[in-house]
Amino acid sequence: MRKNIVAGNWKMNLGYEEGVSLFSEIVNMVKDEVIGNQEVVVCSPFIHLSSIAKLGASAANVHIGAQNIHQAESGAYTGEVSASQVKSVGAQYVILGHSERRAYFGETDAILAEKLNAALKHGLKPIFCIGETKEERESGRFFEVIKTQLEAGVFHLDQNDFASVVLAYEPVWAIGTGLTASPEQAQEVHAFIRETIAKQYGAEAAESTTILYGGSANPSNASTLFAQKDIDGGLIGGASLKSRDFLEIVKVFN
Ligand code: G3H
Repeated sequence: MRKNIVAGNWKMNLGYEEGVSLFSEIVNMVKDEVIGNQEVVVCSPFIHLSSIAKLGASAANVHIGAQNIHQAESGAYTGEVSASQVKSVGAQYVILGHSERRAYFGETDAILAEKLNAALKHGLKPIFCIGETKEERESGRFFEVIKTQLEAGVFHLDQNDFASVVLAYEPVWAIGTGLTASPEQAQEVHAFIRETIAKQYGAEAAESTTILYGGSANPSNASTLFAQKDIDGGLIGGASLKSRDFLEIVKVFN
């Protein structure tokens, strides 16, 4: 049975103390609410990772992740952080391919394929984001865009490495806009992603892959979204900055 995951992406928010205190609240609130097959992941800015990894160490099923890594092992890349450095502070996950990284930092499918390799080499589980822009949705090209993102960014992996990848469908037009994809729109794309995985890696791999939805998910819409057959949880931006909202979303799986 595939895992259900509710992952928070704090993006570039919260000072050090604010982040540590939000994480403590989250751990205390969710530790008794995370049921068997579910994981909660908090993806913080790099500045919080080391401290929150220690705070989260005792909470089973609460994990932490980074929001990016550099693809190189180490070296003269001022301002960057490598997969092994992220792993060394106790993080288990890393978000890769977020549309903000693709749009503002020029991350191409080819660069993301390298980042994916670096993450897997160092034992970080990638939450790999894919999704179409508003224009791509309106022109009806969204299936094609998503297929290309998978083929160019992910499908070079062998079956074994692919088994560690979590995918997140995030329609760019729904991120931070309050415009959530309807449960039917999201389910349609999640089913397409699963079919595309099945063609590449087989039906069993497709059934075992956790596919999250992201884009203006909140306590009011999470239950109908997560009730869809192929939606296994969420990658939550804005609502992950408020412990009560995040808790409500985590509790959808109870
Ligand atoms: O990574 C999270 C997504 O970009 C969703 O952000 O929930 O603020 O729309 P949002």
